Amino acid sequence: MNVAHRKVREVVECMTGKQEEKIADAIRETLGVSSLPPVRCHRHHRSHAASAFYPSGFDEALVVTIDSAGEDDSTVVWHASESGLEKLRTYDFPNSLGFFFSGITEFLGYRFNNGEGKVMGLAPYGDRNEEIEETLRSLVTPGVDYDVTELTQYGPREMEHVLGDLFDRDPLDRGGEYDDWHQDLAYAAQQFLEETVEAIVREYLPEVSTDNVALAGGVALNCKMNKRVMEMDEVDSVFVQPVANDPGSALGSALLEFEPGEVPQMRNVYWGPEYSGETVRDVLERNKLDYDTPENLSREVAEALADGQLVGWYQNRMEMGPRALGNRSILADPRSKSSLDRVNEYVKHREEWRPFAPSMLAEAADDYLEGVDSAPFMIKTFDPVDDRKDEIEAVLHPADDTTRPQLVYEDQNPEYYDLISAFEDLTGVPVLLNTSFNDNGEPIVNRVEEAVRAFYTMGLDMLVLDDVVIRK
Ligand SMILES: [Fe+2]
Repeated sequence: MNVAHRKVREVVECMTGKQEEKIADAIRETLGVSSLPPVRCHRHHRSHAASAFYPSGFDEALVVTIDSAGEDDSTVVWHASESGLEKLRTYDFPNSLGFFFSGITEFLGYRFNNGEGKVMGLAPYGDRNEEIEETLRSLVTPGVDYDVTELTQYGPREMEHVLGDLFDRDPLDRGGEYDDWHQDLAYAAQQFLEETVEAIVREYLPEVSTDNVALAGGVALNCKMNKRVMEMDEVDSVFVQPVANDPGSALGSALLEFEPGEVPQMRNVYWGPEYSGETVRDVLERNKLDYDTPENLSREVAEALADGQLVGWYQNRMEMGPRALGNRSILADPRSKSSLDRVNEYVKHREEWRPFAPSMLAEAADDYLEGVDSAPFMIKTFDPVDDRKDEIEAVLHPADDTTRPQLVYEDQNPEYYDLISAFEDLTGVPVLLNTSFNDNGEPIVNRVEEAVRAFYTMGLDMLVLDDVVIRK
């Protein structure tokens, strides 16, 4: 299909011009402006697919976009090449893997569209439980022709009651106490998801003349599912759009205005707001806060970290998407479990069983991780090298020892690279525990004032803003 045909089909496929006018009106009204550049709409899954393929660096790939729903689609399989995106298969809403996982999430006492990552994190604490598996699969069918509609035809709060009837158990209340059975259910749901996506990739990969896979859609935030795809014998390289959920579909929509080959490989997510050193000093002086500007910042912060301190690290442009990748991060020593407990107790105020992730110098990745490839975004999970586990205890999943790293490249984030290097000079370990700079349930800090406020309402010991340090 040539470019003109593709553009025509896209326009036909996409929303009508009338809706585009309505959207343009709404934007004009919201922004209070009288004119706008032309507004064009792209379809939801096509946007996710573009966000997965265009910046992947691949010439060709199998793309799978998996979410709750976008227009009428829940999962779409694509053949992506230099000439664009060709649909191979659609799983219509409500046959939705996202909705399926959300139903389990609600049943386990977490919020739909919010707690799915917690269910993924809980799953390794469970075991295979044949009774749960059989019961679940009497309602929903995994595999390439998966069918979850007996569950997902209902709304989120109704799904938990369908599951309650199925298992003859009450759904958990918000924050309710779970037991082994609930952990086994999380395990069964995670297996169902992984098995299904693996089967889809296995079925459709032969339609593509490479072994590359690209993933997006909110379900692709499930980094354990991504690991399963990465470990398939048939699969060579995997790119997962780091902003796999719906904010990333905005990126994909913009990318659809280009040809795939025109889009550079995505190397970082530092596309958010930035505040100058002058703004930092101004905020601190207005608030009568003492600060200093160490001559060797990296060394001083690394020493504090090695000494067990918890550090707020605020630099340059904020990250796009759900992960803090060293510009709006809370950092800690990764070497012992006590560090993980300190972060949970003093800083994140969250469930003690949830894992933390590492930032690691890219050059050290092979020493610490099995089968690692490019992984700059904390969206892929790996097994650690056995005899290095005790060096990075605090950043392994406590139940299965897997880890979800950010590999840090010098040209991608020089300040963060310097800090991790300084920590390595002191300790021999080129790794830091990195979690997002926010309290439990709060958004990640953006402005300087938000970072300062968070510093004083959390149990952090040190705050680094640009080249400035505040201590408690
Ligand atoms: Fe989506």
